[in-house]
Amino acid sequence: MPASATPLTVAVLFGGKSAEHDISLRSARAIVDHLDRERYRIRLVGITREGGFLSEEASARLLAGEDAGEQGGAPALPEDTDVVFPVLHGPGGEDGTLQGWLELLDIPFVGSSCTGSALAMDKSLAKHVLRSADVPVLPWVEVRRACFEADPKACLAEVLRERPVPLFVKPTCLGSSVGISMVSKEEDLGPALAEAFRFGEEVIVEPAIDARELEVAVLDGTPLQSSQPGEIRIEGWYDYDNKYLNDDAELFVPAQDLPQRMADAMREFAQIAFRSLRLAGLARIDFLLDRQAGRFYLNEVNTMPGFTTISMYPKLMEASGVPFKELCHRLIALAMARGDRPAKPKAPAQTSERLLEAEHGSA
Ligand SMILES: Nc1ncnc2c1ncn2[C@@H]1O[C@H](COP(=O)(O)OP(=O)(O)O)[C@@H](O)[C@H]1O
Ligand SMILES: [Mg+2]
Repeated sequence: MPASATPLTVAVLFGGKSAEHDISLRSARAIVDHLDRERYRIRLVGITREGGFLSEEASARLLAGEDAGEQGGAPALPEDTDVVFPVLHGPGGEDGTLQGWLELLDIPFVGSSCTGSALAMDKSLAKHVLRSADVPVLPWVEVRRACFEADPKACLAEVLRERPVPLFVKPTCLGSSVGISMVSKEEDLGPALAEAFRFGEEVIVEPAIDARELEVAVLDGTPLQSSQPGEIRIEGWYDYDNKYLNDDAELFVPAQDLPQRMADAMREFAQIAFRSLRLAGLARIDFLLDRQAGRFYLNEVNTMPGFTTISMYPKLMEASGVPFKELCHRLIALAMARGDRPAKPKAPAQTSERLLEAEHGSA
C-alpha cells in the first residue's frame, strides 16, 4: 500500500489473562512504537488480567504501566477496525479462542487461525501432527486426569513402565513453564502429575534430556522464510524464574558452534512444522538439541512469540534481513491478504431443503 493512501486502522490487543500478561504489554509497546503512522492508525485494546476489554483511554493507561482505572467489559473492538494485531501470549490469546472470535467477526488478524493456534498450543496434539509429518519429536505419554484420579498407583506404574526417569511433566495447553516439573526420582512423579493437573485435563510425560535450546523464527509469505537458529543459554532448564525473574538468560543470534547441516535441517523442519500445523503469519519454533546423542527434537511451537525489541523472534528476523518495523508491516500485509481471499465456500442455500426432501421421499 502506498504510504499516501488512507491509513488502515489497526487494533492492537494486549494484556490478557495468561501468566504472560506483562510480556504482552512489553511486546505491544514495542509494536506500537514501530508501527508506521503514515500507513496505520492505531487503536489500543487492553485486556485486564481478569479478561475485561478496556476503553481506549484505560487501554493507554494499561500500556503505560499504570492502573487501568476500570474493570473493562465484554470482548469488543473499535468500530472502525480494519485489521487486528493480537499481541497476546498463552491461553486466551494464543490458543485459538480469541482467533475463533475474530473469525466469527470476519475481521482480518495477524497470525494463525483458530485451528492452527489451537493445534500448536496443545503439546500432545501438535506432536501427533508433527510425528506424522516426520518431524523429530521426543516420545511422550499422555495422561488423562480421570485415569490418574481413578487409580493413581496403576497410572504411575504404567507411565514408569513406558518412560523411565528422568522425565519432564507438562500440562498440554499452557506456556511460560507454568505447571512443568523435571522428575529425577520415581517418587516425585505423582506430585509432579498432581501439579500439572492443576492446569488442565491432560498432561504429557517425556524423557528429560540434557539439551541446548535452539529457536527458529518463521515468517509467512512466498517463499516461506525461516531464520538461522538462535540459542538461549541458561543455568539449568528454562523454568518460570529463568524466563521472567532472573536476568541471566543469554541470547545468541545466530547460535554459535552449531554444525551448518544441523542448522539447515532445523530451518527445514521449522517450515514443515509451520505448514503441517496449518500456521499463518509467524511462529517461533523451539528445538532441544540432545548434547549427549547429538540429535535434535522439535520441542514446541509458539504462534505469538515474545515480541519486544530484545525478544528472540524479532532478533532472528532482523538477522534474516527483516528489521522490526518492516516485520510489523509484513505481518499486517499478510493478514490483509488472507482477509481478501474468498471466504470458505458456503453450502448452496437450498442444500438442506433438498436433503430434507430426499429424506422424506418427497423429491
Ligand atoms: N524433555 C525435556 N528435556 C529437557 N528439558 C526440557 C524438556 N522439555 C522441556 N524442557 C525445559 O523446559 C522448558 C519449558 O518447556 P516447554 O515445553 O518449552 O514449555 P512452555 O510452553 O511452558 O515454554 C524448556 O524451555 C526447556 O528448558
Ligand atoms: Mg517453551
